[in-house]
Amino acid sequence: MSNPTLAGKVVIVTGAAGAIGAATCLLMAARGARIAAVDRPGCDFTDLARQIAPECFIGVKADVTGEPAVKLYVERSVAAFGGRIDIFFNNAGIVGPAAPLVAFLASDDAAYINGSVHSVDGALNALRAT
Ligand SMILES: NC(=O)c1ccc[n+]([C@@H]2O[C@H](COP(=O)([O-])OP(=O)(O)OC[C@H]3O[C@@H](n4cnc5c(N)ncnc54)[C@H](O)[C@@H]3O)[C@@H](O)[C@H]2O)c1
Repeated sequence: MSNPTLAGKVVIVTGAAGAIGAATCLLMAARGARIAAVDRPGCDFTDLARQIAPECFIGVKADVTGEPAVKLYVERSVAAFGGRIDIFFNNAGIVGPAAPLVAFLASDDAAYINGSVHSVDGALNALRAT
């Protein structure tokens, strides 16, 4: 079942309690990855935690649109998995109305793109500090 291409890799999956995020966590874990699952406060990681080895899984409840929360899950992941992050799956999102890109970037939904940028920025800062 294990696929060596992801052996030991550390993956942050946002929106991990949702359909695509949970399926991604399980698939990547089955291929050897260690998973930091992130989703909104109030979400439930019980099912994922039951299916992934405890040493390969953390769940972090955080809103990806807020920079402090993003820093929290990046730091938790770095601390749990030995100071590395190999892959971001920035999947958290909502289905908003379709809009031209310029209008979208001016809308509240653009916070999801900002959250992805904060993730990478936070990761670089956290990794530099290790
Ligand atoms: N399923 C589709 O057909 C489809 C099509 C186009 C785009 N997408 C996008 O793909 C992604 C996953 O889709 P899905 O079908 O699994 O949706 P889903 O609703 O099942 O899962 C999305 C998850 O993101 C989480 N989330 C939303 N906002 C968040 C926030 N601010 N902070 C942390 N977590 C947050 C939700 O709690 C949820 O668990 C979404 O971004 C969605 O917009 C899906």
